[in-house]
This record gives sequence, C-alpha cells and structure tokens, in this order.
Amino acid sequence: MSRTYAVVSNKGGAGKTTLATLIAGEYALQSQRVLLIDADSRQNLAGWWKLCHAKGNIPANIEVTTAATQRAVGDVIKKWTGSFDLVIIDAPGVDSVLQNTVIRASEVVISPVQPGIKEIEAAGQTVAEVNDVNDQYGLSVIHMNVRTRITLPGRNLEAYRYIRPFVAGLRDANYKTVLLETELFERNIYREIQNGLGTLQMQELTDSVRKARVEVNALVAEIEARRSGDAVEAAA
Ligand SMILES: Nc1ncnc2c1ncn2[C@@H]1O[C@H](COP(=O)(O)OP(=O)(O)O)[C@@H](O)[C@H]1O
Ligand SMILES: [Mg+2]
Repeated sequence: MSRTYAVVSNKGGAGKTTLATLIAGEYALQSQRVLLIDADSRQNLAGWWKLCHAKGNIPANIEVTTAATQRAVGDVIKKWTGSFDLVIIDAPGVDSVLQNTVIRASEVVISPVQPGIKEIEAAGQTVAEVNDVNDQYGLSVIHMNVRTRITLPGRNLEAYRYIRPFVAGLRDANYKTVLLETELFERNIYREIQNGLGTLQMQELTDSVRKARVEVNALVAEIEARRSGDAVEAAA
C-alpha cells in the first residue's frame, strides 16, 4: 500500500505546489513511484505536468492526476494505492470539505510557511484542522511546518522570527505539530521549473541547482525522520 502525504495551506500562493513538486522529484530520484494528485481547482500542478509533456521534460517515476471532488480523491487513492509507493496531494488553497477529506486520507500533512503573518496564520489553521480530524476520527495524521521563500535578509524580519515561537505556542496549547529545521530558500530555479522544465532533480547541475538539490534532499530526509519517529511514538 502506498503512503499518502498532503501539502496544505488555506493561503493561495503559500508555496504548496512548489513544495509538492520539489519533494516528489526527490522521492522519485530515490526510486519511489510517486503519484501527484492535483486537488486544487486552479490546476497549477496539472498545468505544470502538461507543460512538461509539451516540452518533452517528462520526469521518471512520477505521474500526475487531478481530483477536484471528495469522491474523486477517494477513488484515485483507492484505484492507485497498489501502483505507487507514495501519493502526494496538492490540496485546494481554500478551506473546504475537500481539504478535510485530503487530511483524513493522509499520513503526513505538510504546510509551507512564508515569513508573512497571513501565511503563518494559515499554517496555524491547518494545524487546528489536522488536530480536529485526528480527534474526530481517531487518527494520528502527522503535521509538519516547512519554512519557504526564505532569504538571508528576510531572516531579520519580525514575521520570520515569529514562526518558531508561533509553532512552540501551538505545541504548548497541546496541538501536535512540528517546525522542520530545513528551510526552502527563495530560489529562481524553484520558480523556473514550474514552466514545464520537469523536476528540480532533472536540471543540469549548476551551482544554484546543486544548492537547491542539497536543500530539498535534506528536507525529504527530515520529513522521513520525523515520520518514522512519530510512528514509533504513536505505536508505543
Ligand atoms: N521557495 C521558493 N522560491 C522561489 N519562488 C517560490 C518559492 N516557493 C514558491 N514560489 C513561487 O511563489 C508562487 C506561489 O507558489 P505556489 O507553490 O504556486 O503556491 P500555492 O500552490 O500555495 O498557491 C509561485 O510563483 C512560485 O513559483
Ligand atoms: Mg498551488
């Protein structure tokens, strides 16, 4: 059976689609068969896939499909669960019943957090939603926050410095969530691949691509370490 992860934030432009494609490329490079599900009606992920095909940049070990309704998400997962190692859902950018379905179907929910107050609040909402779903359905969906679009000068911003205490505050209030140490920097290459260039991992290894690859590789390693750590904790 495949594992299912979802990238969730109510905020449009939070960095969901970018995060989903970056980690999908890394898992695919590690020989995992990855199914990306575009559950956002804006269809940015599906658009990327179409452009990749139009330009002949077709990633190995990755498939993309769309599922814009509750039933479609369930059907796609049921249908493909044997054919892929990992399903990654790019969730809709608005609070909806579909988002609830996506969370319920997932083992891990990841929220991108930019250093902006709206983005931080949206991550907090997702934490609350995941915790509600866990309480309501007796699940133990794991929630992780990933800082993205970080710049060196941006680390001086009040909003950036607020992220860590904000997540700590959620934990103090008994919400289960973590802030990952790996951050995604603001990088042109992350933007450019959305233009049908395939995955990050398919790009020529320039200095900037190398730095990006190191970052995404570390992120996936941290996600997996957290995931297995939490699984051990839940079983104990
Ligand atoms: N780490 C990053 N570095 C540079 N650009 C980014 C980064 N993350 C997101 N972006 C850009 O920000 C915009 C919104 O990101 P996107 O992933 O589409 O957000 P969402 O899917 O949440 O709406 C896109 O133009 C994307 O290329
Ligand atoms: Mg998107």
